[in-house]
Amino acid sequence: MEISDAKVIVTGGASGLGEACVRHFSAEGAAVTIFDLGAEKGRAVAGELPGAAFIEVDVTAEEGVAEAAAQASEQMGGITAVINCAGIATGAKTVGRDGAHPLGQFQKTIDINLVGAFNVLRLAAAEMAKNTPNADGERGVIVNTASVAAFDGQKGQAAYAASKAGVAGMSLPIARDLASLGIRCCAIAPGIFRTPMLEGLGEEIMNGLAADVIFPKRLGQPEEFARLAGFILSCPYLNGETIRLDGALRMPA
Ligand SMILES: NC(=O)c1ccc[n+]([C@@H]2O[C@H](COP(=O)([O-])OP(=O)(O)OC[C@H]3O[C@@H](n4cnc5c(N)ncnc54)[C@H](O)[C@@H]3O)[C@@H](O)[C@H]2O)c1
Repeated sequence: MEISDAKVIVTGGASGLGEACVRHFSAEGAAVTIFDLGAEKGRAVAGELPGAAFIEVDVTAEEGVAEAAAQASEQMGGITAVINCAGIATGAKTVGRDGAHPLGQFQKTIDINLVGAFNVLRLAAAEMAKNTPNADGERGVIVNTASVAAFDGQKGQAAYAASKAGVAGMSLPIARDLASLGIRCCAIAPGIFRTPMLEGLGEEIMNGLAADVIFPKRLGQPEEFARLAGFILSCPYLNGETIRLDGALRMPA
């Protein structure tokens, strides 16, 4: 897929990794629609960029996303790619100082990070199915965001790691489901990236996390994530895979 011709939905595009994707794809000439809850930031990012638009929507909302996907498709003249970046980071031990892990927190994490991503991609894929295939027989590409926590989840990350393992685990069956429609599906499993989600932890904790990265010994830059997302779009043989992007980081317990 040529990025300059792409019509891309970026969930979580108002901040962090999603915002970097919005900026990257827009700079390459793609039409981009941000799906996010953060209306002020989302509108501001879209307003800065040619060919970008913002729709305020919760990725977990069945009807809301159906309406947003139809609107994005109408405004962009179709949908050819989805980059799912909307997500939340939560932490609690299975049994902590205050007792058992709050069930609602576990369910909310799965709902936004896993169910939300699937909700958007299933509806966007239905729109992609209407596209005329390109020379490679391709109608669309889906890129989900997992995490290295899918493979090396740390203490306190049962909910987050489970949600991201779900994202990694669905790459292959979705790729298989959508193959006959000419739609590919991959996921990126980022290590530790400097985004508002992580900056909330404070400089000291971020530096501690960066110390475990093998090389380059620093946090990832959101633009590096966006470049990999762009590469997945443009490389037709990449499919059904979850790619770690982590400077060889393996998270300790
Ligand atoms: N930053 C990292 O180090 C890192 C590492 C691994 C994985 N990830 C994953 O990457 C993705 C992006 O993270 P980030 O660091 O850019 O975070 P971020 O907090 O900067 O951005 C997340 C965005 O998602 C939006 N969002 C949250 N819930 C939503 C919902 N229900 N509906 C619509 N939008 C919603 C937020 O408003 C925000 O704009 C997340 O899925 C996160 O789990 C991040």
